[in-house]
Order: sequence, then structure tokens, then C-alpha cells
Amino acid sequence: MRLVTLDTEGASITGPTATLLYDDWYPALRSDRLRDNQLATAMLLDLPLVLGRRKDGKIFAMRDSCPHRGIPLSVGWFDGEHVTCRYHGWEFEPCSGQCAAIPSLTSHDRLDATKIYASAYPCVERDGYAWVYIPGAGAGRKLDAADLPPVPELAKYSGKYRSAHLTADLPCNVDHGIIGLMDPAHGPFVHQAWWWRSRASIREKTKRFEPIPEGFRMAAHAPSGNSAPYKLLGVYGEPVETTIDFTLPNRRYETIRCGSKWFTSLTTVTPVTASTCRIDVIAAWNVFYHVPLVTPIAKFFGAKFVKQDQVTMIQQAEGLRHNPSLMLIDDADKPAKWYFALKQARLDGSGKHPLDGPVELHWRS
Ligand code: FES
Ligand SMILES: [Fe+2]
Repeated sequence: MRLVTLDTEGASITGPTATLLYDDWYPALRSDRLRDNQLATAMLLDLPLVLGRRKDGKIFAMRDSCPHRGIPLSVGWFDGEHVTCRYHGWEFEPCSGQCAAIPSLTSHDRLDATKIYASAYPCVERDGYAWVYIPGAGAGRKLDAADLPPVPELAKYSGKYRSAHLTADLPCNVDHGIIGLMDPAHGPFVHQAWWWRSRASIREKTKRFEPIPEGFRMAAHAPSGNSAPYKLLGVYGEPVETTIDFTLPNRRYETIRCGSKWFTSLTTVTPVTASTCRIDVIAAWNVFYHVPLVTPIAKFFGAKFVKQDQVTMIQQAEGLRHNPSLMLIDDADKPAKWYFALKQARLDGSGKHPLDGPVELHWRS
């Protein structure tokens, strides 16, 4: 992707292409799909994976490819302890990838099967997802999730809460998915609905942002007065505060608190291949805990909301097929510019942060 962005003097800056960020955690699939000795497949960053759950409950993710001759391990067998390749029957312990047996070996062979490893990746179950750590090429075998950055987690502020999740495939590269996620100006056009906001409700906004490690925070503030879900929280009669954090590689955390009531969500846009991605949203809340039907209603509206983004991105993909030059403008596209700068800083290891302190952005939405 070539993004032509304009700086304050109007000069164009070419943004980086949709480079994939390795060495980080990504959600592969819902972990409730991993049961009954079944193998499931997923694709993350162009890497085909086979996932499952051992008898002892531990989940695993291996490269879906036998190290012997490359047939997908997912077409083989899994007995709750070992994955067996369907071609020549090599057996692998799936959490470590270590080969446990090569059936063709005889007493004449000196090959030690246990020295052979299939690629297995750190895999942790969190918030109902199987999170997989995807190492960069040549990273060697990363052994322990304990030595890695923490697995992302949705914040919960009370013992009792409800939760929901949704997923949609997006036909664009991860950068388009992410800048679409943080773009405030599409709201009144893409998400027009009586229960959200309308074009007529557009008004000028001032938002305060501050730098956080590998990301930025839209600081706690009273949320948009013109969006219906936030208005609903007004029934509790306490001040409503929201915080939205974006951090690399792909995470948007939203926290809304109103006295002891809260709503949180974690949205990720994960590269599936170099040119496609997937949006996953998990949300938890204790607001309206005792009101019946809140979960199905929230899921219904959440799904509509994500569907609107998805439809727009399908239409956008049509337009992007011929590789047009694109623009990012100030101030509404400023967060997208920060995203590209943060990504560049991680890629070149400079650690340079695009924000050197708090800033205010202004836009109409
Ligand atoms: S290809 Fe898997 S055992 Fe030969
Ligand atoms: Fe949207």
C-alpha cells in the first residue's frame, strides 16, 4: 500500500507498506473450538497453524506442516497427547513440537527422533481466545511464554460481569483495518443509525491524547454527547469517563466507567495474510447486569456496528484494487499517522515516539 500523507506544510510523505509485525501475540481463534481431541486450523500472518487442546487442558499451536515432508499436520490424528502425521506416522508432542516417534526406524538406525522438532509456538488461552506468539524468521525456538511480553487481557473491574465477542473478516491489509479502526471521521457516515448517531449530529470535538509505550491514549473524558450508548449510562446519574488506548501491534482498549459500573472492550485487527485481516472484539460489562436480554441486544447492535465497517471495507477493497495513491489529513487522520510512525519505530528499532507529550486534536464527527 502506498499512502501519501500531507504534513502541515502540505508536503507529501510516503507511509510504509503493510509490513507484518512479528514477535508478538495475536488471537488465532476462539478457544472453545479446541476440545474433544479435535484439531482446528487458523492462519496468522500468512502462517498456517494447527491448534488443539491436550488431555491435560493445555492448548497448543503448531505450524500446520510436518517437518518431514510438509503435509499439513491437521489432516493427521490427535489422541489428546500426540499429533500423528498421516503420511509416515511421525508423532509429535504438540506443545513443544518435539518428535516422539518415527515408526519406520529400526535397530539399524542411529537417528534420534527426539532431536527433531516440528514448529510449535507459545499459545495461551485468555478471554476465550487462543493467543499465539508469532516469532519473526530466524528467531529460533521461543521456549517459554514467561520470557515473552504479556498476553493482552481485557480489564474487568468486578467479579460479576457479562461478556460478548464478535469477529469479522476484512478484505484489506492490516494497516487499512487498523486505521479504519481509529478513524473518527467515518462514524457519522458509516455508522448512521438512530441508536448510534446521525449525520445531522456532527459537531466539533476536541480530544486530548497522550503518549503511552508503543501507543497513545485518548485521555479520560466525558464521552461524545451525541452517541446513544453513552447517553444510556447517564441513567446512573454519575459522571461517565472513558479512556481509549491504542498500542502496537493492533490493539484498541476502551474503558468506560461510571461509578462502580463499567464497560471494557478489546478490539484487535489481526493480519491473516499480507493482504487480508480479521477484526475481533471482546467486551465485558457490569452495567445493566440484572436487566434481561442485555447480552443478546448488545451482541445484536455490536454485530451491526462491525458489519457496517466490514461492508465499507469490502467497498474500499474494490477501490484499492488498482493501487491508488491515498491521503491522511490532519487532524482526523492524525492517529493513523501516529500508528505508522510507531510501527516504523518498532521496525527500525529506533524506539522513537511520534508524541513528545500530550496534544489536543480537533475534528468534526
Ligand atoms: S510427511 Fe509427516 S511423517 Fe512424513
Ligand atoms: Fe467503524
